[in-house]
Formats: sequence, C-alpha cells, structure tokens
Amino acid sequence: MSKNIESHLSEDREFKPSKEFSKQARVSSMAQYKRMHKESVERPDLFWAREARELHWDKKWGKVLEWKAPYAKWFVGGRTNVCVNCVDRHVTEGRGNKAAIIWEGEPGDKRTLTYKQLQREVCRFANVLESNGVKSKDRVLIYMPMVVEATVAMLACARIGAVHSIVFGGFSAESIKDRLDDSEAKVVITADGGWRRGGVVDLKANIDEALKKDKSVEKVIVLKRTENKVKMTKGRDVWWHEETAKVAATHKAKSFDSEHPLFILYTSGSTGKPKGILHTTGGYMVNTYATCKYIFDMKDDDVYWCTADVGWITGHSYITYGPMLNGVTQVMYEGAPNYPDFSRFWQIVEEYSVTIFYTAPTAIRAFIKAGDELVDKHDLSSLRLLGTVGEPINPEAWMWYYNKIGGGRCPIVDTWWQTETGAIMISPLPGCTPIKPGTATQPFFGIDAAILDEEGNECKANEGGRLVIRKPWPGMLRTIYKDKKRYRDTYWSDYPGMYTAGDGARRDRKGNFWIVGRLDDVLNVSGHRLGTAEVESALVSHDAVAEAAVVGRPHEIKGQAVCAFVTLKSGIEGTDELLKEVRNHVGKVIGAIAKPDDVYFTPVLPKTRSGKIMRRLLKELVATGKVTGNTTTLEDANVVKSLQKQVAKK
Ligand code: PRX
Repeated sequence: MSKNIESHLSEDREFKPSKEFSKQARVSSMAQYKRMHKESVERPDLFWAREARELHWDKKWGKVLEWKAPYAKWFVGGRTNVCVNCVDRHVTEGRGNKAAIIWEGEPGDKRTLTYKQLQREVCRFANVLESNGVKSKDRVLIYMPMVVEATVAMLACARIGAVHSIVFGGFSAESIKDRLDDSEAKVVITADGGWRRGGVVDLKANIDEALKKDKSVEKVIVLKRTENKVKMTKGRDVWWHEETAKVAATHKAKSFDSEHPLFILYTSGSTGKPKGILHTTGGYMVNTYATCKYIFDMKDDDVYWCTADVGWITGHSYITYGPMLNGVTQVMYEGAPNYPDFSRFWQIVEEYSVTIFYTAPTAIRAFIKAGDELVDKHDLSSLRLLGTVGEPINPEAWMWYYNKIGGGRCPIVDTWWQTETGAIMISPLPGCTPIKPGTATQPFFGIDAAILDEEGNECKANEGGRLVIRKPWPGMLRTIYKDKKRYRDTYWSDYPGMYTAGDGARRDRKGNFWIVGRLDDVLNVSGHRLGTAEVESALVSHDAVAEAAVVGRPHEIKGQAVCAFVTLKSGIEGTDELLKEVRNHVGKVIGAIAKPDDVYFTPVLPKTRSGKIMRRLLKELVATGKVTGNTTTLEDANVVKSLQKQVAKK
C-alpha cells in the first residue's frame, strides 16, 4: 500500500477524453461540470428534482429533502414503484422489444430477455411472492447464482414493496443464519445450485443448514439451475418453475412512499456483527439512475456489462437498478472470469459487442498476470468506456487497462463509493474530467466531499486525512436495520452533521481525491469488505483456538491478504494439518473469501501491558517482515523476535 501512495503522489500522467467522446457526452467541459456541481450542492432541490422528473411517479413529492441530521427524507410525500420504472416504463415508452438482459451461463448456455419478456417474468414472480404470503415490508432473503432470475426476484420484491436482502452466494450457512436472525425474513429464494469453475455450488444445502433452527422463514422458493439433487422440505420448499406456472404474467403494481424500504444489504464493520444497511425507494432510484446516466454515459444503443455479483452493492446499483432505470441493454454472466481460462471476459465483450465495461482492480491484476495473449486473441474495438470499483487501483494496472483493454481510446471512470452510499460518490465524468491513474478524481453532482483532520479542519492539498461527506445525498443509507444507535455512532459521530466514510484520502492541488484505504479494522480483499473482528471470531470458534488477531498485508492480486496470528489452547500442537483445518474452518463459518492466506501459530500474541493486542505491530510485521515502531509498551518483547522469525520463513 505504501508504495502505491508514493507512486500516487508522483503520478503526472494525465489523459483527456477525445473530442468525439466529449461531443456526444452529457457533460463535455470542466466548466460545465463545475457549474452543475456548484448548483447541485448549493441547490440540491433544483438539481435532484430535475433528475427525478425524468422518472415515473404516481404522486409527485412535496419537498425534495427533509434533513434532520443524521436522518434524511428525499422526495418527501412522493409515491412511485422502482420496478415499474425499471421495467414497465420501457415497455410503455416503446422499448419493449429491446434486449434488457443478454445472459450467459458459465457452461456456455445463453438467454436474452427483452424488456417485455422481463416484464412478464417479473409480474409472474411478483404474483408468486404474493401467493406465498409475502406482503409489503416483509423481508425476503435471496441467495442465488448470477442468473436472470436473481434480478427478476429483486425486481419482483420491489414491485410488491417487499424488502430484499441478498446474501452473496459465496457466503456460508452460518453467514446466512446471522443475516436471517437479524432480518427475520419470511421467504427465502434460492437455487438448486450455481456453476462456478466447472463445479456446482450447493446453495440449497447451505440454506437447509441455515434454516435448521430458524423461526421466521415460512417458504423457500427454489430455482432449478443445475439439476443438482436437493432435498425439498414438504410444506416449506416449493419450485420456482411450478409456482410461476400457476400464476398470471400480468401484475398490477402499487405505488409506495418515497421512503418505503427497498432493501437491506449486510456489510462488514469493525465489530464481529455485520451491519444491515437499509436503503429506501425514491432517493436511491433517482441517484442510481443519474449516476448511470452521467458517469457511464448510458445511451440507447449501448451494451453495458458490469462484472459484479448481485450479492454486493455494485450488483444492486449497477446491474439491477441503475442500468434498468436507464433502459439500457446489459450483459450478465454467471461464472468465474477464469473459466475455462482468463480469456472468458474478452470473449464475451467481443461476442456481444460490449461498449461499457465495469470491473474491479483485482480482476484487472489477475488478467495482467494471466498474460496479454489471452486479450490479443479478441476484438475489443466495441468498447468505448471503462470503469473500476472496489479498491484503489494501482497505476500499473490502470495503464494496462487503459492501453490493453481500452486501446488508449476509452476513458476510465474510477468510481469511489460504498454499500452505505448506495450510488457512486466520486468519479470522473467521462466526457470532461482529465483522468490520472489511481485517482477517483472529483465528486459527483450533489456530493460535498472533503478531507478533514482529527480536529475537523479541512486538510491542505496533498495532506492525508479522513474522507467525509458534508451534506446528505439521495442514495444514502437511512439507517442500520434495527440499530439506530450504531448508525449514528458509526457514521455521524466523528464530526457533527457529517458522514464519515471510514476511508483515508488526500486531495491534490487540482481537487482530485486519492483514496488510500480503510482507516478502521476492515480489510479490502479482492474489492470486498471483510471485518478483521469477524475473521477473529470465526477463528476462536474452532475448538483448538484460544485467541486470534487478524491483520491485512499487501497482496499482488487481491489488494489485501488475510493474515491470522493464532494462539492454541494449552496442550494442543500447531501442526500443518491443524493449520489447514483452521483455515477451512474460517471458510466454513464465513465463506471462502475470508479464509486466511497466512496462519501463524504463536504461544502468545503481542500485547500491551494493559492487555490490548498490538495490531499496528502485526500489520507492520506482515507488510515489511520487520517491526521498527516502539515496542517498549509490550508485555513480552521476545514475542516480536520469534514472530519475526516465523514471518521471515514464509
Ligand atoms: O475503502 C473503500 C473501497 O471500498 C469500500 C467500500 O466497500 P463496499 O461497501 O464493499 O463497496 C464496494 C463497492 C462500491 C470503501 O470504503 N473502495 C470502493 N471503491 C473504491 C474504493 N477505494 C478506492 N477507490 C475506489 N474506486
């Protein structure tokens, strides 16, 4: 990481959009951006009302914003239906026969759905949800592979006012259980499996395991995807295809209040318990719509592809909602980027003539490692705009993406945002912002971002500090589900009335934001947030483990790798076998993404005399192999020497 920061500071390469790109873009000069940004921050009511009017409302709002920090209401009193805006509106407006989703399964099966076909599927499934007892505000847990039906399920929930809560298909039964306990979902939607690197992920078995002691779930709707054998529990489990065959392909949508809950998405924080981030209807809809329109420059003839999974916020805002609100044609792919090899993505770009491509730096680094030959075989000339999200992009990866994938002609939008922000907050506008490798550049319209020091003063140019947002924005989280106190404490208590993102950043003289990374005990592994406390509690839930400390270290592909320092219960020997078992145990408790890359068994952990684990020291040790900082406060200074030896052996 530190190497990245240094190279960021000396980064002087800058690229401007071509004249052709600028000419056709919605914002084509920095002067126009500045004018619009100023207005949007000073008069958010004017700016956001203009955007909102481009969508369909059953009842117009009264006030655009009601702000009683830290609680915001947007488009107050307005009534709308997000699903109608994503689907029906396009059918009514003459885009019914346009492809909405071009889907490709990992084994190579293909399916295209027009907006009209999608409307039928969504209506059918809305009827299925209702006939299975789902009512407005009921929670529905979705645990599915990347198939069209995942999007259909989300949109059907939105259509009937139910609150979806998606759990990423890579998470374990225990992770599902935690989220079920918190959300008290009434219905679960899953599949008999999903394809991943040629194998089947047994999603239904994980659901069965998670539901063992559950009291809230009444029905499980199971999609047949892989023909994997599953156990169906009588009275509880029903098949998607049987249920949809029973109902009509039409459904009359009701309208919902602008602040009606739309979804809960769980994300890691600095404690062991994930936070249920709650997003609502009107503001989120307008914000995802507007960011897609301006940042991805979405036009009627674009073929857009975001490679995220719907289990993460990127899949919510930039697969299901934003692009559909813009009526664009999008590609959706089920499987792994390296199946059968690393050319799969480029093959898809070529086959469907993808024009806008949005992925994560970790994927880009993996492609670089796999070799240019896999890219060279494919014609990528359809691409006109590239995007990245999830973590800071290192300049080398940026340059490769720009030249090798974008052919030196496609602007890159490096988009900074979070599960909590709902929509992109800092990003270039492709038709005007000069881009540089490694910076997300400038705040989007309506976003008042700043970098503050601990006292709350704005940092000088190039000085590092904390990234904050000083004014509310439409897509912001409204609360942490069932935990208002945690909402206030986590995001709004550092500086009164301001949102603390939890990221460290600096701003250069031109006003570009350079995100450094998380300031809390949250790791960013392959663009996904992972709380060290969650991994630690998974480790200590293993019978042999007494205590654990988890830190991140820089990793060539993943950005950060998970390093665990573990003390064992007395009398237990730290064998290689146990090491493997402990790693797998974490995978079982949380999901494969959390499996520690390195596990070090140690008789004691480095602690201060008052008993606090010195993570700072462990972090330095795994990053550099040495500890240079002050160790005089340590209870036992010999621990460091012995750990240093262990780390050096790796
Ligand atoms: O640290 C920032 C990093 O990802 C965090 C948010 O993670 P999550 O809620 O899982 O959402 C990821 C997808 C939006 C942030 O606090 N992050 C996200 N985008 C960027 C980034 N760091 C640097 N540059 C980005 N473009």
